[in-house]
Amino acid sequence: MAQINNIGVYTSGGDSPGMNAAIRAVVRSAIYYNVGVTGIRRGYDGMINGDMFPMNRKSVSNIIQRGGTILKTARSEQFLTPEGRKIAYEQLKKNNVDALVAIGGDGTFRGARVFGQEYDIPVVGLPSTIDNDLLGTDFTIGYDTAINTVIDAVDKIRDTAESHDRLFIVEVMGRDSGLIALRTGIAAGAEAILIPESKTDLKAVFERLESGRKDKTSKIIMLAESGEAGDAFEIGRQIKEKFPNYDTRISVLGHIQRGGKPTCMDRVLASRVGVAAVEALLAGRRNEMIGLIHNQIAYTAFENATKHFVDVNPDFLKIVEILSI
Ligand code: F6P
Repeated sequence: MAQINNIGVYTSGGDSPGMNAAIRAVVRSAIYYNVGVTGIRRGYDGMINGDMFPMNRKSVSNIIQRGGTILKTARSEQFLTPEGRKIAYEQLKKNNVDALVAIGGDGTFRGARVFGQEYDIPVVGLPSTIDNDLLGTDFTIGYDTAINTVIDAVDKIRDTAESHDRLFIVEVMGRDSGLIALRTGIAAGAEAILIPESKTDLKAVFERLESGRKDKTSKIIMLAESGEAGDAFEIGRQIKEKFPNYDTRISVLGHIQRGGKPTCMDRVLASRVGVAAVEALLAGRRNEMIGLIHNQIAYTAFENATKHFVDVNPDFLKIVEILSI
């Protein structure tokens, strides 16, 4: 096992709150273990362009509480090609980087996995995406902050819905996962939740709306983006057609879900897996994502740390039905 002298750290793919806390944990623990650390800007693009700089204890001062990523992030087309990866490897050699910590989601780990197979460089990953859609960890860095941002917004929307007797369809992110919609729907007291993991029965939703309490005049439908029943505008159109008497509005929350101060949960998760990542590299581990399962550090091979469709706990959907009477 070759000795590691200089760990490169980068963030890649969509940003998520807590990435800075993860960078801080990697930098500080590398220094703690007397290993150099190099920041790579804009993910794989920065690797290819040689956009790297030495980091020290102070480079990560006062960032644990900040959203976004001080290293910036990108989705790289060039890294998808063998030529791009060859240049990236040469740049790492030139900058004496001999191990990597990749912070990101599914796409980030796909890149890391191919790179680790083609070149003799140990790489480990930290799960960081608001979508919480990776196997090998109970939670990803950024998910907790995102769901808290969503319920904050929906609580505000509820005020207007209540005052005006309105029905709101609130569309949230998650790419092809409904985990943001599922939890926030329960937490915000939604009347219905529409997610891709469970077949959307709009007819049943309509019937529930029709038979619901007449004195309950505000209604919230939480909708995950990219569900098979269509986006918020399409579902809104169908509701207006079926229930012309409802004063219906649509709210697509968008990128506010990706920003903001990370919650305590996300900061602690990022700190724990960040330290564990450096320790894993020094112990000779490679090609693995470092997550948390049942509150314990868990190592999952990159090839298994993929996007997944969780089997949504049917109890969660039943809870919505029971509690929205
Ligand atoms: O993966 C994070 C995420 O925010 C998804 O929830 C969403 O579908 C996507 O990224 C949006 O990507 P972009 O910022 O490129 O529009």
